Amino acid sequence: MELVDSYGRKIDYLRISITDHCNLKCYYCTPFSGRDHLERAEILTYEEMLKVARAAAAAGITKLRITGGEPLVRKGVVEFCRMLSELDGLKSLALTTNGIYLAEMAEPLFKAGVRRINISLDTLSPERFEKITGYNWLPRVLTGIEHAEHVGMDPIKINTVVMRGINDDEIEDLAALTLSKPYHVRFIELMPTNSTAYGDYESLFVPVEEFMKRIHQIDRVQIEPATDSYGPARLCKLPGAIGKVGFIAPISWHFCGSCNRLRLTADGKIKTCLFSQEEIDIKAALRSGATQGDIIDIFSQAVAAKPSGHHLNAKNHKNTCGRAMRAIGG
Ligand code: 5AD
Repeated sequence: MELVDSYGRKIDYLRISITDHCNLKCYYCTPFSGRDHLERAEILTYEEMLKVARAAAAAGITKLRITGGEPLVRKGVVEFCRMLSELDGLKSLALTTNGIYLAEMAEPLFKAGVRRINISLDTLSPERFEKITGYNWLPRVLTGIEHAEHVGMDPIKINTVVMRGINDDEIEDLAALTLSKPYHVRFIELMPTNSTAYGDYESLFVPVEEFMKRIHQIDRVQIEPATDSYGPARLCKLPGAIGKVGFIAPISWHFCGSCNRLRLTADGKIKTCLFSQEEIDIKAALRSGATQGDIIDIFSQAVAAKPSGHHLNAKNHKNTCGRAMRAIGG
């Protein structure tokens, strides 16, 4: 079976947020208002998520990504990954993490079948790390990245959200990691979400064209078009580098036309677009004995309802995703 939406896009990628809890408090990701956290009973059990993932795989999803909050804070995540990696029809299992627990967990995760890993890292300065995240844990993240590499995870993608006056002077240093390491370092435009940084959005936002210029070698390299079916980044290689530098510009370069993803929130809603408030409930069905066929029907409905795209730009960013990023998983 294949999932194809009303605009002809093949939907084969599901991101599963397994918790809205996180062990960091990055100010651009923390909710602006409203309830702090989901109640435990609201969050899907691993059995329920596995049922959804199995139905998704039967419906045509071939790529899964585990996100949070911070997924590594939820107990049992390694075993959950192992069960996911054994599902029929799945080609790829990826995980997004802040890296805090990665030093201890890279090896068990690898053994459980996780190969692709994204690690959030906005700065190489310990002081700034503490300012952005609330904790003085940069060394843990850097050690975590090394462990991921050591156990054989591939690719290792480092995600940096560029913010004016916060870390936009570090772009070149972060890109330079790719000279000696096989990482993909990806610079991401700040997206408007329901977070504490929301009020400062316009002053924090740096357009991609501007941050590309910060890497002065970039005018000597060819930027590849975003044709990689594994993500919206446009990649390039610095001269002599082992890794790659990527640019993700959800605001300046809409990539909605090639969007292949759905999201499952920890409380069991399908989101068809990061910036749509519309959510399709799957939990009620799960908790009233839905069959695999019923769940596949819900996926088909969600895909049919997927909007053509978001309409955000640097000036018009009032249309937000309705939840803090922490409760969606990026
Ligand atoms: N804009 C861009 N990226 C964001 N992330 C979280 N909030 C935002 C935002 N407002 C990123 C994190 C992480 C990924 C899960 O989402 O840095 O890399």
